[in-house]
Amino acid sequence: MTVHKIAVIGSGTMGSGIALTAATNGIRAVVVDISDEQISRAKKYHQKQLEKSVAKERITQDEADIATANLSYKTSMEEAADANWAVEAATENVDVKKSIFKKMFDVFGDDVVLATNTSSISITDLASSIPKAEHRVIGMHFFNPVPVMKLVEVIKGKKTSEETTAATIVLSEQMGKTPVPANDFAGFVSNRVLMPMINEAFHAWSDGVADPEAIDSIMKLGCAFPMGPLRLADYIGLDVCRDIMMVMYNGLDENPKYLPNQKLIELVEQGHLGDKTGQGVYNYEKG
Ligand code: 3HC
Repeated sequence: MTVHKIAVIGSGTMGSGIALTAATNGIRAVVVDISDEQISRAKKYHQKQLEKSVAKERITQDEADIATANLSYKTSMEEAADANWAVEAATENVDVKKSIFKKMFDVFGDDVVLATNTSSISITDLASSIPKAEHRVIGMHFFNPVPVMKLVEVIKGKKTSEETTAATIVLSEQMGKTPVPANDFAGFVSNRVLMPMINEAFHAWSDGVADPEAIDSIMKLGCAFPMGPLRLADYIGLDVCRDIMMVMYNGLDENPKYLPNQKLIELVEQGHLGDKTGQGVYNYEKG
């Protein structure tokens, strides 16, 4: 199966990154979002990244022009119905994702793979919202920033077909990524390991073990992480971290070790979500 056009449902950080990565690897990508504001943010991000890549001589101006031509933006899924691959990249909420999946089932053709970029939610559960197409549903979990991070975590649901899985591996490689399989447990591998570390960093801060700068410096310099865990939490989004931890808590026998730290919850409740709001663990308002 040759993928000629990917519909990316959701134009937030992950959706816009997935679309850009497809476009720079020679695959047309249509970004779908009901919000005009989000779409114009995605467009600006695409233009800025392509300009940066040309300035850094990573790609030529011609290649940037081809990538731009590969990208399109629509405010309704119906306008993207000619795509032969769809990937959902909406907020990490099971009800929102299930209603998007029902719509994807109605809009896209019978042989289109319906992938989800969920970070933690059961693929089998999401697929159960469209019983006639469960074999075409698969987890295709990208990492932020998508154009840079090499991994796609590939998660089969109970009824995902071998054909869907094989096609996902091929497409991930075509997008310059390394697909690695994980089984369908809440949080898969990546967040099962990453989120407890981030949460523990919040506990260490709350307990007064060290301040955020020291915690991050220790983990950067001592463990060679590109970002410390608290800086990374801001980068991912504190609301996203909390939601993933709750999906793991609910999906893994309500084990209290997955419950988000109180300081993390408080920051989210105050609207301090990290980079995207200018304030999280750290303040970014002055850049
Ligand atoms: N989009 C595209 N490219 C980007 C980018 C973005 N948003 N941000 C950075 N880049 C590129 C830069 O252009 C630069 O490219 P170049 O080397 O060709 O010039 C390169 O990445 C390095 O960027 P910088 O020099 O600006 O900065 P750093 O060297 O500090 O790297 C970083 C930035 C790549 C974000 C690095 O800090 C990093 O790897 N951080 C960890 C990120 C991480 O762990 N991500 C996973 C999060 S978990 C997740 O996504 C799963 C979810 O389920 C929660």
